[in-house]
Amino acid sequence: MQEYEDAPPPADALSESLRGFGYSVETALADIIDNSITARAKNVRVTLSLGGASPFVLVLDDGNGMDEPTLRDAMRLGSQNPLTPRDSADLGRFGLGLKTASFSQARSLTVASKRKKGGIAVRRWDLDYLASNDGEWRLLTTAPEDAVSHLEELEQASHGTVVLWSKLDRVRPRAGHSPQGGSHILMGQIENHLAMVFHRYLEGPQPRLKLYVNGARIEPWDPFLSTHKACRPTPEETLGTGENRIRVKGFVLPAKDMIGDAADFEKAGGNDGWITHQGFYIYRNDRLLVAGGWLGLGVTRPWVRDETHKLARIRIDLPNSADAAWQIDVKKSDASPPENLRNRLRDLAMRVRSDARSVFVHRGEYGKRAAAPNLARPWKAIRIGGQSAYRIDRSHPLASYILQQLNDDDNSVETFLRLVEETVPIERIWIDTVEQGEFPAPAFSGETREQIRQLARDLLASLVNGSGMTAEKARAHLRRMPPFDQHADILDEI
Ligand SMILES: Nc1ncnc2c1ncn2[C@@H]1O[C@H](COP(=O)(O)OP(=O)(O)O)[C@@H](O)[C@H]1O
Ligand SMILES: [Mg+2]
Repeated sequence: MQEYEDAPPPADALSESLRGFGYSVETALADIIDNSITARAKNVRVTLSLGGASPFVLVLDDGNGMDEPTLRDAMRLGSQNPLTPRDSADLGRFGLGLKTASFSQARSLTVASKRKKGGIAVRRWDLDYLASNDGEWRLLTTAPEDAVSHLEELEQASHGTVVLWSKLDRVRPRAGHSPQGGSHILMGQIENHLAMVFHRYLEGPQPRLKLYVNGARIEPWDPFLSTHKACRPTPEETLGTGENRIRVKGFVLPAKDMIGDAADFEKAGGNDGWITHQGFYIYRNDRLLVAGGWLGLGVTRPWVRDETHKLARIRIDLPNSADAAWQIDVKKSDASPPENLRNRLRDLAMRVRSDARSVFVHRGEYGKRAAAPNLARPWKAIRIGGQSAYRIDRSHPLASYILQQLNDDDNSVETFLRLVEETVPIERIWIDTVEQGEFPAPAFSGETREQIRQLARDLLASLVNGSGMTAEKARAHLRRMPPFDQHADILDEI
């Protein structure tokens, strides 16, 4: 018996199986456009022709293009090993997207490409042709007859690539109520999806990419409304080291009445609406992979997407060198944070969620003052010689009240605060949460409702006495003060 047998998969069976990755038209298109961006295209034109006798989808770019041998390799499944390091701007990973995305929608994939000063190279996979050829991987070298006209534009161009899907057996109009019917809805969803996934490429006075769908230029959709004056960002932080170094930044979006126009507010919600699109936005090389969700993070149990936290969105920027750590999937629609970052991400999310909740609860009523929500927290983090330290914020309304009550020569409270600050049990908290995997008890665990109410009453009294605010003002203040911001119902009972 010889030591091994060559066991290649039968082409007809495998190519049919690969259709089931679970792409939608819009996620499949985004994967094709990724390749154009990696090939340094400045303009990408998508044409969808879904009615008519032979419907097709075509993506034309003005990127570097491929010569004959490169195109042949590109058409092979697993054209590049995912373990091979990639150029830091490369949006690919598995060497599959071109094929799996295309097969998910179409039975025929034609790619024509041209390098500067080169001729046009053409290759085609046709699943029906594969089905009639005993499982051999027969890559066709011509375009389908009815597609020749689609390649004309490439002939005029100096370089670029055309990806053509035909025999579209999986692109279906979507159900919905629109005067123009389901294919109108589908087109809208495709445009919105691309406007979202590539918004950072499409933004700015000199965008890196111009993207057209059936001739119309796609405008970027910024999930953070970052240019709106009522958007409240957190400072950008970096987490992790080396090739797993990532950047994170939280945003509390303006509430409905701060946006004003109902249509603008609806648009800011996104394709799937405000509730679905809350949470983390994960970008890889500026390309959006995940548009919302709390990544299984939470305090006592994983957070679910709910109405009150819908204004919270958090941006995460990954380099493509972090693919393995974040478990990027082939469709580039999923990613999962590595264990060692989960606590840091959860802490940030807790802050952003809590601020988003206060903005939502007060419907922007306290919009201006809430711009400095951390004032309401007794703790603040500071940096000393490049390291973090934790201090009690003396400008916190209660801290300043207490300190003012004292005689000028009484240093006891200040001394005690300093002692507390110098002995924050950081190591202990670290060990309990990171090494033992425990979550710290949420605020007021084990307190009865009446105990929380009593504490709130006392605090209200101190605020009124301390700063001379009216009871109404003090109450409003307390509503924004963690952890009472999470217990608005109890405040209402007082
Ligand atoms: N529009 C394009 N322009 C130039 N090269 C392309 C284009 N599309 C695909 N390619 C080439 O085909 C290869 C395979 O693409 P794909 O199957 O999507 O895998 P990946 O993007 O993970 O490498 C790419 O690595 C690239 O070399
Ligand atoms: Mg790709």
